Amino acid sequence: MTDTLTSPSGGTSETLTIRAPDDWHVHLRDGDMLAFCADYTARQFARAIVMPNLVPPITTEAMGAAYRDRILAALPAGRKFEPLMTAYLTDTIDPEEIASGFKSGVFTACKLYPANATTNSASGVSDVKNIWRVLERMQEIDMPLLVHGEVVSADIDIFDREAVFLDQVLAPVMKAFPRLRVVLEHITTEDSVRFVENGPETIAATITAHHLRIDRNDMFKGGMRPHAYCLPVAKRRLHREALRKAAVSGNPKFFLGTDSAPHQRSDKESACGCAGIFSAPNALESYAQTFDEMGALDRLEGFASEFGPKFYQLPKNEGEAQLRRSPQPVPEIMTADGIEIVPFHGGETMGWIFQPPGV
Ligand code: NCD
Ligand code: ZN
Repeated sequence: MTDTLTSPSGGTSETLTIRAPDDWHVHLRDGDMLAFCADYTARQFARAIVMPNLVPPITTEAMGAAYRDRILAALPAGRKFEPLMTAYLTDTIDPEEIASGFKSGVFTACKLYPANATTNSASGVSDVKNIWRVLERMQEIDMPLLVHGEVVSADIDIFDREAVFLDQVLAPVMKAFPRLRVVLEHITTEDSVRFVENGPETIAATITAHHLRIDRNDMFKGGMRPHAYCLPVAKRRLHREALRKAAVSGNPKFFLGTDSAPHQRSDKESACGCAGIFSAPNALESYAQTFDEMGALDRLEGFASEFGPKFYQLPKNEGEAQLRRSPQPVPEIMTADGIEIVPFHGGETMGWIFQPPGV
């Protein structure tokens, strides 16, 4: 709902009020980094699907429960936020460990990282056949599978890895497990948009704030731009356009997942820079800016607050979130306790400000 309000100074300002949103894909890290980044997500989102790619990865119910406790302990007193935990699939993970964690409510879903596809994925799955029994069990208990959709073979061009994954891995898995609910995470290509649109009701996709705004040129604008580097890597402009259309389409198969993935500035600005974009501090503002540009602010609520819970079969949040149309300068670098991170939109002035409830 958008309202035009008359401000005391006589001008007008616009606010956008939506049902409290969720982030269906985020990296909250651990230790000092968790302390640095957790509340940026918690202040904007009521719930978040938390990625398990820690060192070591979250592979047991006990590890999932302990990580959930560490996340809650990292938040300021009184913050209402529910971390939804995920299990990291490995070649040897026990299906009963997964099933037990799902039944007890510790795990909401499992995450499939093809081995060595991205940050901390060395213990991921080397061949999807190795987790066939796990997928069988997940289908049986109706536990969602979240997929990092990229093949890793060195002979496949990095810009083609997502499209090849659809054919080589995802289509066969969905054929073998027609009732398994699957989220194709952080899609970056028109091919994935079509795959999800034309697929059965069991497939959905998350779209990040940054893939709606950058294309592959942004990594090379006037020099190498490590802060625009993430995985899956941004593709051609035409793919970005397909993602933007999908996000604002009102199709409930597409919903919000930031993939906010903080790395220390020194780890990004390096001879072998890490993949990941830290979008949590301005995530809703960034999505709002894109939806605004697309003339689709009225579609933001579905994308951010309704379609995710529908797919995950969870209740929608009760509260509200508010965005106000107003210039917001974003710092170039964010610093706390010896950690330096360059946020997404760093150095820009955004057109929206998120207003925490009660302000
Ligand atoms: C993520 C990370 O840093 O953990 N990086 C990224 O570029 N998105 C991992 C991932 O989601 O691929
Ligand atoms: Zn991710």
